[in-house]
Amino acid sequence: MEHITVPYIKEQKGKRKLIMLTAYDYITASILDEQGIDMILVGDSVGTTMLGYPNTIPVTVEEMIHHTKAVVKGTKNALVIIDMPFMSYQEGIEQAKRNAGRMMKESLAEAVKLEGGQNMKDTIKAIVDIDIPVMGHIGLTPQSIHRMGGYKVQGKGKDAEKLIQDALSVEEAGAFAIVLECVPRDLAKEITQMLKIPTIGIGAGPDCDGQVLVIYDLLGLSGDFRPKFVKKYANLKEEIARAVKAYMDEVKEGIFPDDSHSFH
Ligand code: KIV
Repeated sequence: MEHITVPYIKEQKGKRKLIMLTAYDYITASILDEQGIDMILVGDSVGTTMLGYPNTIPVTVEEMIHHTKAVVKGTKNALVIIDMPFMSYQEGIEQAKRNAGRMMKESLAEAVKLEGGQNMKDTIKAIVDIDIPVMGHIGLTPQSIHRMGGYKVQGKGKDAEKLIQDALSVEEAGAFAIVLECVPRDLAKEITQMLKIPTIGIGAGPDCDGQVLVIYDLLGLSGDFRPKFVKKYANLKEEIARAVKAYMDEVKEGIFPDDSHSFH
């Protein structure tokens, strides 16, 4: 299988569904890559999944680079995208270019993702102009959690037009793809039909050009937090708890280790 590139992702629009998942470590990345996933996103959801933060706001550039380096090492074919964390691009174009460049150089990711629509048009264009591919992200943008007042569906009713303008701005700025998060299904379909770049949906219905989920949600490792759009394909939390309990019981009872696990 050939390594997946940014132009290849753009060319797939209208041909087949694109598939993306998040990963934050070497082993998970290598499993996803072996399955032939198109794109691995090292999302700033690393903050809530791996680092125990209450939301994505505290995530730093250094943390993103640290996790992305591990993901890149575990990946042969998938396109690896690094998320720009809160306040690594919002101060201005020079800051955004500097951080995007540093994140690409130190992590070896092949594209960056950042949140925002019309407000980020010039920033996306400036990063694209220095040859760093950008994936956009509109709709529910978790870095704006405090403005939005919670994790809510975006673009309902009269807000739909703003979301359409956001999508067009991201495309005009030169992004190669765009994440639509928590957007009504019909609006996501309309945006997908309107844009020439692929839309990658999460909580945006089945008509997007591709789909993304947070890997821990799909695997059943996110505890009780389960938004409506998540489908749990495994219950690894229960499976890990069962294995740990079995190990503890066997050590307590002197069953493990036995002779077969011992050196002579
Ligand atoms: O940080 C993340 O994992 C994301 C995806 C949910 C798209 O931005």
